[in-house]
Amino acid sequence: TSGSLRPLRMLFLGAPGSGKGTLTSRLLRAFPQVGSVSSGDLLRQQMAEKTEIGKLAAEYISRGELLPDEIMTRLLIRELDSRQWLTSRATWLLDGFPRTDIQAISLHSALKAYNADLNLVVELKVPESVILARIVNRYVHVPSGRVYNLSYNPPKVPGIDDVTGEPLSRRPDDTAEVFQRRLDKYHATLKPLREYYAQAGILKTVYGETSNIIFPQLEALVKDSFAVQYVAKQI
Ligand code: AP5
Repeated sequence: TSGSLRPLRMLFLGAPGSGKGTLTSRLLRAFPQVGSVSSGDLLRQQMAEKTEIGKLAAEYISRGELLPDEIMTRLLIRELDSRQWLTSRATWLLDGFPRTDIQAISLHSALKAYNADLNLVVELKVPESVILARIVNRYVHVPSGRVYNLSYNPPKVPGIDDVTGEPLSRRPDDTAEVFQRRLDKYHATLKPLREYYAQAGILKTVYGETSNIIFPQLEALVKDSFAVQYVAKQI
């Protein structure tokens, strides 16, 4: 029964364009009890609303740079708090935060106060050549974070979001030059983050070039994570 399932508090790690957003949507369809937050979507919403954080984000994002750790930590903790997800019972997935070891330590302290912590970190590994081919075809619907790809999952009407009928846009950070900088930044910050979670014993890896190869691995990890408490109870 769901009463015996352990809450899932997962971080999805992966290079820009590796498919985190796309796989997250699919995961939420398979596990409707899970909620998700994407730090990139939050920033793009702030940019669209032209808030102070949005203006700052526009500068960093257009250069392919990461925003300062304190700003991201405040934004994400506030978001988790407003969703009442800072509890040991909530079940959720984060995409894009924590992105540095400093952010990881901040999230750990914030959750510790509520007797909670991340319990699954999944690193998604996709070859760089595959990623680069995808990015030139990416279109997004900013208000919802829905992602399309002209060859993989095109919108029903070109340039229009399937659900709302609103226009789609290209991301300003998807140009060849900025995208390469984002990839380099990802690899530079990944190592300490990966080590941090490997040491905590919660780091898993999924590999592949297509969602049909990757998704079953991801689904199995999430199912196992949910079931841990159940298994423990049987012993
Ligand atoms: P963010 O929005 O988090 O970008 P990202 O991590 O660079 O990841 P992406 O959104 O580019 O890729 P994705 O893995 O979600 O891929 P998608 O599913 O779209 O962050 C943007 C910026 O915000 C950062 O650069 C930084 O400046 C700032 N920021 C955010 N968080 C921060 C933090 N914590 N600290 C500091 N700064 C922060 O897929 C890609 C494309 O491929 C799509 O077109 C999709 O349709 C297609 N696709 C997906 N799967 C497949 C498949 N199986 N086959 C074919 N095509 C596919």
